[in-house]
Amino acid sequence: MKVTLSVIKADIGSIGGHIAPSQKLLDTVRGHVDRNAKGMLIDSYISHTGDDIAILMTHTLGLGNKDIHKLAWDAFMTGTQTAKEQGLYGAGQDLLKDAFSGNVKGMGPAVAELEFEERANEPFLFFAADKTDPGAYNLPLYMAFADPMNTPGLILAPTMANGFKFVIMDVSHTEGDRIIELNAPEELYDIAALLRDPERFVVESVWSRQSGEQAVVVSTTRLHNIAGKYTGKDDPVMLVRVQKNFPATGEILAPFAIGHLVAGGMRGSHQMPLMPVGLNSGISYFDGPPIVSCAAFAMRDGKLTEAMDAFDHPFWRSVQDNVAQKAVEIRRQGFFGAAMLPMSELEYTGITEKLESLDARFVVRG
Ligand code: F6R
Ligand code: MG
Ligand code: MG
Repeated sequence: MKVTLSVIKADIGSIGGHIAPSQKLLDTVRGHVDRNAKGMLIDSYISHTGDDIAILMTHTLGLGNKDIHKLAWDAFMTGTQTAKEQGLYGAGQDLLKDAFSGNVKGMGPAVAELEFEERANEPFLFFAADKTDPGAYNLPLYMAFADPMNTPGLILAPTMANGFKFVIMDVSHTEGDRIIELNAPEELYDIAALLRDPERFVVESVWSRQSGEQAVVVSTTRLHNIAGKYTGKDDPVMLVRVQKNFPATGEILAPFAIGHLVAGGMRGSHQMPLMPVGLNSGISYFDGPPIVSCAAFAMRDGKLTEAMDAFDHPFWRSVQDNVAQKAVEIRRQGFFGAAMLPMSELEYTGITEKLESLDARFVVRG
């Protein structure tokens, strides 16, 4: 059976600044989806990661389906009413357009969709991150799909012997999707040369070269490219099919033990380490640290099992402690150097304005 997984997520308001949506807001979104799912969805799962609400849906209507996208858009519009009634901060902030125009792409919410022939056993992972951008997944995906030091399956499993194809997007290009396809392992250095710049080059998808099947899809939305200015961090979602022709769950999760530095803490303008957290976690220290959650599922005929919380395990406690230490460590240097993002990534215009006014006062000494 051919099934589509669609995850559509948005920040439509939260409690206490950018911490987490209210229970009532989550209930409103869930209620809307449940009431309108008939004849459309096989199953759905609604969760939050920091201040972002994600609607994961299974169906047979294919990629970019208007009705599926409208269902999510309307759920977020309805939720925005609740957010406004409750005085939540940033109510409706990711809904950048007034009217739905057939597809939520380019309208603010992030989208990641996978369509595939369901296997007899179909395990997959749903990742959601807050206070960061889609390039946050570059490093884990490179390690999981191209590096045998992380993924022994690349040398052990005959089903992965041909490696994987990376589709990488230049997210600075706003007049359409500018992409390049590169094959691992032959073009490893080319893949690395692009992925080292996660604010510009983002893994959009990964494909098995053996079977041609798609393993990964990442939401590549850059809100400031849509709105022409910063309206918040992009807070990406990702779907990853695992096992058999793909890396094992543990090979996908392993790179998250690094707690690598990503763009996005405090005012969307700082580098901070990415902390793996449990499902439905909020945000705290320094409007961060950036967090990532992972819900693991099995699926049959599009029907989902309960979500297993992949980062809710004693192993991740020491990782979390390490990330907290790294976060405090980089915060010690305040706004200096690598702690704050480069000019092009700052969420505010204050520094640009200041530099412009100071520019007139510079003199060249005779
Ligand atoms: C991401 C997020 C931040 C804020 C940013 C701006 O989830 O919440 O990127 O968008 O900190 O915040 P305000 O609206 O307070 O200026
Ligand atoms: Mg936010
Ligand atoms: Mg967010």
